Parts: sequence; C-alpha cells; structure tokens
Amino acid sequence: MRDLLPGAVAVAVADASAWTEEPLPEEAATLSERAVPARRREFRAGRACARRAMTELGLPPLPVPAGRDRAPVWPSRVVGSISHTGDYCAAAVARADRVRSIGIDAEDNLRLDEPTRRLVCRAEEEEWWHGPGGEAPHWPTVFFSAKESVYKAWFPLVGGWLGFHDVRVEPDPATGTFTARVLVPRPPGPAPEVLHGRFAVSPDLVRTAVVVTA
Ligand SMILES: CC(C)(COP(=O)(O)OP(=O)(O)OC[C@H]1O[C@@H](n2cnc3c(N)ncnc32)[C@H](O)[C@@H]1OP(=O)(O)O)[C@@H](O)C(=O)NCCC(=O)NCCS
Repeated sequence: MRDLLPGAVAVAVADASAWTEEPLPEEAATLSERAVPARRREFRAGRACARRAMTELGLPPLPVPAGRDRAPVWPSRVVGSISHTGDYCAAAVARADRVRSIGIDAEDNLRLDEPTRRLVCRAEEEEWWHGPGGEAPHWPTVFFSAKESVYKAWFPLVGGWLGFHDVRVEPDPATGTFTARVLVPRPPGPAPEVLHGRFAVSPDLVRTAVVVTA
C-alpha cells in the first residue's frame, strides 16, 4: 500500500509475525467470541499493522477496537483504514490534522462472476471497460476494490451507507489514479462529492487507496 499513499500516511503491511500477534484487550473484547480462526487471524494482523503504523507516525500504539458497525474506532486525532485478504493485510494511519479520512482495500486478483459484476458496476463503468478501458486488467475487480476503499473513507465522515451503484468510478490507466463521484444526495457536512484514489494491479492482488485531505 505504501506506493498508493502520500507521505503523511504511515503504512504497515503484515509480515509473518503480525498474523499471530495478540490484539490488545480492548480490541479483543470487540471481536465476536464465535469468530472462526480465519477471522481471528485477520483481525490480529489488522490490529498489529495499525499499531505498527501508529508507531511509525510517532504516536503511541493505542488500541483500535471495532465499533458496532465493524468500522475501526481510531484513537482521537488519528484516522486510518485496514484491509485484509488471504495472506495480505495492511493498515494505513495518519494524523487527523493532516488527513481527514483514509480508505484502503486489497482484493485477490480474480475475475468477478456476472451477478457480482452487475451488483458492483454501473452501466457507464461496464461500457468503459468493454470499450476504452480494455480487457486487462479485469476492471470490475478494480471497480470493486475502488468502491470498497471509497466506502471505508466515506463511512467515518458520514456514518452512513453508500451502495455500489451510488458511486461512479473513473480510472485513469495511464496514471494509476481514479476519481469516484458520489451520485446520491450527501448529508450536509464534510463528505466530499468527488474522492480521489490510486490503484495498482499485480498478478495476485488488486489494491486501491483513497485519501480525503484535510
Ligand atoms: C465493510 C467492507 C467495506 C469491508 O471490505 P472487505 O473487502 O469485505 O474487507 P477488507 O478486509 O478489505 O476490510 C475489512 C476491514 O474494513 C474495516 N471496516 C469495516 N467496516 C467499515 C466501515 N463501515 N467503515 C470503514 N472501515 C470499515 C475494518 O477494519 C475491517 O477489518 P476488521 O474487521 O478486521 O477491523 C465491506 O464488507 C462492505 O460492507 N461493503 C459494502 C459497502 C460498500 O462497499 N459500498 C461501496 C460503495 S462505493
């Protein structure tokens, strides 16, 4: 994720030890007792990465419990985002006076099946990747990841839902950037109409990141 985010954002990507590092008690208390081992493993890695990223920023590695909505509850004056898939996990953290919100997402680089593709992509996005966007990479997975990043950046600002068809993503393959326009009425306040992000596609992973600047 480091390559997708500006210098004001600290990034930690899980190494082997992160997946087994115990969460802090305040964090563990917000993980369901019924969580299966795979869920416990990704939760541990996400929290370990969050602590490491906070330390990199010069902040104490304070607990990041999960809220009732599952969104991470960052310490005051800190914003951040967590993503995990398979053996990849990352956290991105910044001081709230530098950055208003962050959303990061990593997905396995797999083709979406048709029902999922329809759920995720708007008609204009379908047209774009069948036309000027071209076949490679599999753009619906990029749209999916971009929208997950948008949602993670949007939610802490608004506290509300955003559907996949409520946002139109326009990638620029030449620069690895995208804009995401929110097409539904926004509540008054800090939520931007257009969010800006970056994407990267490797054989294994599709990664995206969105930053709303202060
Ligand atoms: C919440 C959601 C975005 C998580 O994405 P995912 O690809 O399934 O999973 P990831 O591993 O990338 O991310 C999971 C992490 O996102 C974070 N997260 C969960 N809910 C969140 C929210 N409402 N806001 C911000 N971050 C959230 C958590 O840190 C979570 O990890 P944790 O539970 O271990 O702490 C997704 O499950 C979801 O509900 N999407 C539907 C809404 C949406 O994306 N709309 C698109 C509109 S443009």
